[in-house]
Amino acid sequence: MLDFDDIQHILLTRAPALNGRYVFLTFRDPEGARAWLSAMLETVHSARAMRESVARDRRWVTLAFTWNGLRALGVDEASLATFPEEFRQGMVARAEILGDTGANHPDNWVDDTKSPDLHAIVILFARDAEAHARCVAAHDELLTRHESVQMLSTLDLAATPPFDYAHDHFGYRDRLSQPVIEGSGDEPTPGSGGFIKAGEFILGYPDESGPGPRLPQPEILSRNGSFMAYRRLEEHVGRFRAFLREQGQTPDEQELIAAKLMGRWRSGAPLVLAPERDDPALGADPRRNNDFGYKHQDPHGYAVPLGTHIRRMNPRDTAANMNRRRMIRRGATYGPPLPEGAADDGVERGIAAFVICASLIRQFEFAQNVWVNDKSFHELGNERDPIIGNQDGTLEYKIPKRPIRKTITGLPAFTNVRGGAYFFLPGLRALRWLAALGQAPA
Ligand code: HEM
Repeated sequence: MLDFDDIQHILLTRAPALNGRYVFLTFRDPEGARAWLSAMLETVHSARAMRESVARDRRWVTLAFTWNGLRALGVDEASLATFPEEFRQGMVARAEILGDTGANHPDNWVDDTKSPDLHAIVILFARDAEAHARCVAAHDELLTRHESVQMLSTLDLAATPPFDYAHDHFGYRDRLSQPVIEGSGDEPTPGSGGFIKAGEFILGYPDESGPGPRLPQPEILSRNGSFMAYRRLEEHVGRFRAFLREQGQTPDEQELIAAKLMGRWRSGAPLVLAPERDDPALGADPRRNNDFGYKHQDPHGYAVPLGTHIRRMNPRDTAANMNRRRMIRRGATYGPPLPEGAADDGVERGIAAFVICASLIRQFEFAQNVWVNDKSFHELGNERDPIIGNQDGTLEYKIPKRPIRKTITGLPAFTNVRGGAYFFLPGLRALRWLAALGQAPA
């Protein structure tokens, strides 16, 4: 049985938010940091509270901490040492493994997430712009009363219009495929892979290989928690659209190229099920839009090239141990939309995402290292993920086709990493325990 009263809502639910802000914080002293945390506690929804009041609520708050942040709150060294090594090192130290080199190197990140002084993130999701303004003002006001907690940077999030379905700045429908946790109350839709043991995402539960690893200590701190990889990914929309125009003569051909990079049409329709032409009704239908595999339906990639983003990030029935590699995705778009037909304006826009999993190394880092950036994944030879791979303009992209495949040489980078960090997402009991650190037991 999942402890719905303890698990932070973001792990099990997605807030119906059109706006948001991420606030990156540093703590000057442990007492001051804990006083701020005490004041924040009542604003954080558990998974149960979220589900019960989602229709009425207008804002949703999540708190998470870096390893340095746990120390800055007063967690002792013996306990800090029990956290996994990759989390202790932090995302910047893992740059080589993650493929964050060249243009994606932390030296090029624009916010302060690479700073060792980054201690916490507050995720404020708001139903709309008005709720966003109120929520931001309330947190700013709280910070004025807690001088030892300082803002390093903030990032405002806003959905891209039209608002009736979630999509990114390139125009791809998003939030279609998500792992379903056993005991969460959610039902897997056809093709989405069945239930996954809770321990793959939440600490303290059995995972797909057995009872689950030893918890970081003390258990009150780690149980019902999870790890979050934060990625701020700039999307070069002008470059992306110019590429589609170069590669396709007609609007239909351009749409097909866009689909051949992602594995789904921009409408969300999967190429496996709609290989020749788009089918927006299929893309919008949750009973059908995940109901496919690759092994029998498209073994050679004639519909979905082996290198597409979704075939890499979830090879489905063509990978061993797939249930050990799933990830929960949350996040939102930031920056103004670039109107269709407009020249690139040089303004940064993109996706600021959280990848949530019980093991950063086995799930997120493996995906980045092998699926996204290994040039010979699927024996492709000279390719990386066309959407999020580290592209330096020298790599290929192959689109299988009969009788002759299409090979694009010199694929440009459509995205770049502009910030990132590893966070621990404690349960609510752990948040209270952290807030009370240093106090004599009652
Ligand atoms: C700018 C960056 C990104 C864009 C534009 C993007 C876009 C998309 C889109 C449109 C889908 C298909 C919709 C869906 O299945 O929900 C998708 C699926 C997915 N993406 Fe990304 N994504 C980005 C970054 C990432 C990152 C950083 C990760 C993890 C490291 C990731 C992991 C996944 C996974 C696991 C899926 C589901 C595949 C499936 O189950 O079939 N994506 N992405």
